[in-house]
Amino acid sequence: MALLPILQYPDARLHTVAKPVKEIDARVRQLVDDMLETMYEAKGVGLAATQVNVHERIVVIDTSEERNDALVLINPEIIQASADMIVWEEGCLSVPTIYDKVERHAKIRVRAQNRNGEVYEFDGEELLGVCVQHELDHLLGKVFVEYLSPLKRNRIKTKMVKRTRDEEA
Ligand code: NI
Repeated sequence: MALLPILQYPDARLHTVAKPVKEIDARVRQLVDDMLETMYEAKGVGLAATQVNVHERIVVIDTSEERNDALVLINPEIIQASADMIVWEEGCLSVPTIYDKVERHAKIRVRAQNRNGEVYEFDGEELLGVCVQHELDHLLGKVFVEYLSPLKRNRIKTKMVKRTRDEEA
């Protein structure tokens, strides 16, 4: 197991569109393990492969209180989405300390493969539903701040660039 560096917004690599996973082999399972370790260490509820600079359709999620209910989503797709929407305050390990409200589908049905390649489906709402939509956006190269106004987004960008510079200094 290994901790993976998480790309920080506005890193251009966060805008890469991920490709489907063709074969769920030892390499993919190792990546999943490393992503889970990285997510738990960073105290996140979800992590997309895009955020660790691997551009394949892989997401890990754990929205449980106890942090012991890992979901592995390989080649995930949202197969149903409710017309009713929900507004949720989101954060992201690629944009630390920034939280803002985003509108999402209130309920979704998801189809994905697990680490053994088996296809499974589940329903998500509230935190889990929002988290899946947020992580699947990452796989399309989209970061949640792109839903905010250009003014807010530019403020966040400036803050993040300054922070990265300070950390490197
Ligand atoms: Ni995120």
